Amino acid sequence: VSLQAFNTLGLACVAPRCVRLDDPAQLPALTALAQDYPSCFVLGGGSNVVLPATVPGLVVRVGLQGVRLVEETADAWIIEAGAGESWHGLVQTCIEAGWDGLENLALIPGQAGAAPVQNIGAYGLELAERLLSVEAWDIPAGRRVAFSAQACRFGYRDSVFKHAEPGRWLIVSLRLALPRPWRPVLRYPDLLRHPRLAGRDEAGITAREIFDTVCEVRRAKLPDPAVLGNAGSFFKNPLVDAAHHASLLAQWPDLVSYAQPDGRYKLAAGWLIDRCGWKGRDLGRAGVHDRQALVLVNRGGADAGDILALAAAIQQDVQARYGVALEPEPVVVAGE
Ligand code: EPU
Repeated sequence: VSLQAFNTLGLACVAPRCVRLDDPAQLPALTALAQDYPSCFVLGGGSNVVLPATVPGLVVRVGLQGVRLVEETADAWIIEAGAGESWHGLVQTCIEAGWDGLENLALIPGQAGAAPVQNIGAYGLELAERLLSVEAWDIPAGRRVAFSAQACRFGYRDSVFKHAEPGRWLIVSLRLALPRPWRPVLRYPDLLRHPRLAGRDEAGITAREIFDTVCEVRRAKLPDPAVLGNAGSFFKNPLVDAAHHASLLAQWPDLVSYAQPDGRYKLAAGWLIDRCGWKGRDLGRAGVHDRQALVLVNRGGADAGDILALAAAIQQDVQARYGVALEPEPVVVAGE
């Protein structure tokens, strides 16, 4: 089975078997089936993975649909979404229903079930700030487990699911708590300075306006995977201590960084890569996007080897010039 159409990098990849799960009632059968294969891999929207030429075992695609208002309390709307819902579709559905609070996370590719895995975040908001709980299926053990937000151990682009053995968890559904009354999240520079929002009184700004602005900013910078294969940011923004930050700033006064509550600084990896001269450059069949250096793209016919060779070359340059180790952000799946 070819998985090329099911990963947004568009990498050529085959697997011996791929099944689609549309109903939670099929979960016990999935556990039985998985025992016949050396490995099991759960594929969401395929927008944050680097797939090998050959996946050795069973691949599961998640179709679980459904979005519903579970409860409306004085201080939150509680929404439940099936893991197979498109994330952006879910954000749109909520905004249209008047359940505001996800607008900063508009247009992030992928499925709702993948959102907690890497704790998606953008434009000043992380999923962790809106997530109440996750229902997951322990594939090898064949049982359902509920994770509270705390049990998910969210960090920057990180969660308990990212560290679990590959093929253990299938996220079935998630519950979101959208705080009431709604208040806009306007911390991110790209939103603060956008002409639609700049200088306005917060009280007059709507969630729909933030949604539209986020969509515009993303469309201007980030390539549409349907047109140019990519997996969003390919590296995490690295953290450095205050001394390292000070020495970098002395040498590069226009360094882009964000002070963290713990005294460290998060550096814009896109800026570091850009300043190493990588923006718009290619290596083999992989390349660096010409409007956002943090995004690696498939120039046509690339495989995991092309993408990983480019990533390694970038890591080497950034390490040599800034003494900073870049960590890949997507899940790199082991091949045969
Ligand atoms: N920059 C450059 N050159 C570049 C790219 C960026 O100089 O080629 C500079 C920008 O000018 C800006 C700074 O770096 O001053 C930050 O850039 P941007 O606002 O585009 O955000 P980012 O740090 O590159 C992160 C997330 C994105 C998220 C945006 C907005 C990570 C790894 N990436 O990117 O998430 O959309 O912030 O919040 O944290 C993703 O994870 O796939 C993703 C797209």
